Amino acid sequence: MNNISKLFELARSARRNAYAPYSNFAVGVALLSQEGNFYKSCNVENISYPCGSCAETGAIATMVAGGDKQIAEILVLAEGSELITPCGACRQRIKEFSTPQTLIHLANAAGVQKTYTIAELLPLAFAEKELKK
Ligand code: THU
Repeated sequence: MNNISKLFELARSARRNAYAPYSNFAVGVALLSQEGNFYKSCNVENISYPCGSCAETGAIATMVAGGDKQIAEILVLAEGSELITPCGACRQRIKEFSTPQTLIHLANAAGVQKTYTIAELLPLAFAEKELKK
């Protein structure tokens, strides 16, 4: 199984476990770290709505807990024919652990439909160099 197929299957299995009783919008994310490990997560909502977290947030936290620090590829999977892009906050979170080569795959039930780099999704991002000014 190639990396994209594996990421897709992992995102699909994570999405099945999504806890999204308020939006009814289940999201699954899987990522492959530069170190060669796979991680996955889903969105987890809360009755206090702002406490909910995106699937990307969970996947990144799981990667960091697993000891890895760089994303090689990340795949975001919504429901049915929906194709979603990571929210603004998650783009910033992805950026923290990305390189210019990191790939962000957007998938629907039929598979990956589009692939971007973080520079395409978050141009002019706030970065470490800004803090040093
Ligand atoms: N959501 C994600 O998990 N990832 C995204 O890229 C966009 C949105 C979640 C947050 C919330 O639980 C639900 O989808 C509806 O916004």
